[in-house]
Amino acid sequence: MSELQDGVAIVTGGSTGIGAATAKRFADEGASVVVADVNVEDGEDTVAEIVDAGGEATFVEVDVTDPAEVEAMVETAVDTYGGLDFAVNNAGIEGENEPTSDQPLDNWEQVIDVNLKGVFVGMQAEIDAMLEDGGGAIVNMSSIAGQVGFPNLTPYVASKHGVIGLTKTASLEYSEAGVRVNAICPGVIETPMVEATDQASIEQTIAATPIGRLGEPSEIGDAAVWLCSEEASFVTGESLVIDGGYVS
Ligand code: NAI
Repeated sequence: MSELQDGVAIVTGGSTGIGAATAKRFADEGASVVVADVNVEDGEDTVAEIVDAGGEATFVEVDVTDPAEVEAMVETAVDTYGGLDFAVNNAGIEGENEPTSDQPLDNWEQVIDVNLKGVFVGMQAEIDAMLEDGGGAIVNMSSIAGQVGFPNLTPYVASKHGVIGLTKTASLEYSEAGVRVNAICPGVIETPMVEATDQASIEQTIAATPIGRLGEPSEIGDAAVWLCSEEASFVTGESLVIDGGYVS
């Protein structure tokens, strides 16, 4: 019997890539999963795959930048499955590739809104629900761009550094009450976000990665499941880098 059995998990950005793989991993462990995303079509496919494999899942359309929609997402988890135990705040966008002085302000605002405000309002709603239900665990999706700079990605890098700050602060505030809060910093993982990158940059990344390949979405899902499990009961405020050695 899995330790996540009978738990309830929300995964934002759960329609594709890392989020979809993470939602499937939670379902494999026996958790009921709310797949939450703006992308309805792929989200419904992810839910169908989970249900076909014998798991329990439901889709909620949500824009993580809208606090009312995020509240409704958490209410759906509580109303449908009786509470909330785990949340993976994973929805994110990369935004435009431009040097700092050429970055359009509206791109800055959009990337910070989704990647940073989205995690903030997500945690606000999730923590309240978890405190009412005896505690829980949150995983926020940062990046190796939350550890080091990357040229031409100022808003993305700033947002992902910010996610680590949000994670550390919430962990100080809520760990004693039973809500652990951690972050994951993936390296380059094979997802739709990365498929948009040119082949030369992908090859450069692989060459700079000691393990010699890109990561698989399921390798991030495995870590999210572990961070939410009892095996990680003394882990909070941590940022776990999973990058094949890239930033070492
Ligand atoms: P992806 O593009 O496959 O997935 C992102 C998901 O977020 C999509 O389903 C998208 O519809 C959803 N989303 C975007 N804006 C949203 C909004 N406002 N509200 C709700 N959902 C929204 O990308 P991937 O690669 O799976 O990324 C997932 C997370 O992992 C992101 O936070 C990304 O920054 C992070 N990450 C990804 C890396 C990679 O190499 N793929 C590396 C490091 C971090």
